[in-house]
Amino acid sequence: MEQIDDSRLRGIIHDRIKERGGRIPFADFMAACLYEPGLGYYTSPGRKVGAEGDFYTSINVHRVFGRLIGREICRMWEVMGCPAPFTLVEAGAGHGRLAADVLDAVRELNPELYASLTLRLVEAEPSLAEAQRQVLAEHLDRVAWNDPAELMGGTLTFTGCLYSNELIDSFPTHVVEMTPAGLREVFVTADGDGFAEQLDLPSTPDLADYFRRIDVNLQPGQRTEINLNACRWLEGVARCLERGFVLTVDYGFLSPELYGPMRQNGTLLCYFRHTIQEDPYQRVGHQDITSHVDFTTLILRGEELGLHKAWFGEQYRFLMAAGLMEELMALEAAAATEEERIKIRLVLKKLVLPEGGMGDTFKILVQAKGVENPRLLCMRDWSKLF
Ligand SMILES: C[S@@+](CC[C@H](N)C(=O)[O-])C[C@H]1O[C@@H](n2cnc3c(N)ncnc32)[C@H](O)[C@@H]1O
Repeated sequence: MEQIDDSRLRGIIHDRIKERGGRIPFADFMAACLYEPGLGYYTSPGRKVGAEGDFYTSINVHRVFGRLIGREICRMWEVMGCPAPFTLVEAGAGHGRLAADVLDAVRELNPELYASLTLRLVEAEPSLAEAQRQVLAEHLDRVAWNDPAELMGGTLTFTGCLYSNELIDSFPTHVVEMTPAGLREVFVTADGDGFAEQLDLPSTPDLADYFRRIDVNLQPGQRTEINLNACRWLEGVARCLERGFVLTVDYGFLSPELYGPMRQNGTLLCYFRHTIQEDPYQRVGHQDITSHVDFTTLILRGEELGLHKAWFGEQYRFLMAAGLMEELMALEAAAATEEERIKIRLVLKKLVLPEGGMGDTFKILVQAKGVENPRLLCMRDWSKLF
């Protein structure tokens, strides 16, 4: 078995624990594991997503996923009265594959919109810009790059649509546990070369407030995650978006399901070479750590910030209503053999498969600002489309 050397990052985290009086909140540990410059999972060299990486996202399944988002973006532009300039922002753009699929679709479906838009890539790892440039070679005159701090700081103002795929699940989360004495937070301490956990009073009142706002009462013994970074991120997005839409694709639930008594141990998981791991204290900086998104909080916080829920539902509903069957028929018509056609059907099925498949594990939330009653493609009754 390949030996993984994670000693440098372990050392840095140990030093940090010492400097901060012997412990750090789990959120700070997770932030180091994922984003420590040069050493974190997302901020170190190597392919993370796809066959050579640790997990797949919908983008790797088929370009139709991006095409359908592109179709919806064309509709958004129309319902907004065709504004120019129109800006797309992709947050957490990774290697740029989704951006390329979206731009291919918009160029084909709506050349007028394509000619007036700029797609701004916002990615925490700046070295990915080179890969993005290659993937987006055909679209370089339509693409620009921005720093995540501009989004968080509210300085990247735009009219258009900000979209993301599997971004919010990668934000560092606090971990809390309900004890007979009340809500406690998980802190990480040093334990020899490794790490141990300590439960104590929460490091910030925001954690108890978070549950109060969504009326959640954990059961004794129940442990879960709280993604305060998701709220901060949405606040930045709301400041930046002057008019338009926020389209968020991620795995997650509404809060009654995410924080319900059936989920005693939360949703924190690690991914390493396409296997699910449960121990975040192993392979430090070499495995992904994620948690499911609380869409109730995104919806409620969005309403407070002027981002009104336009649509929320499972990925399969969105894709079907946005035109998956039309895309499938076009692909089948272009296929040379029956074998190819079967292959296309099987691949596209992955995007919509329910019962734990991508189709219902992933949810899509569309929020609108300054657009009254938008009639989007995802709102169509897809059972009547064919
Ligand atoms: C799970 S990956 C998803 C990548 C891509 N969207 C996909 O679906 O394949 C999450 C990506 O978001 C980036 N990221 C994390 N926090 C970010 C932030 N605040 N702003 C921009 N990008 C961020 C990470 O560096 C990583 O590339």
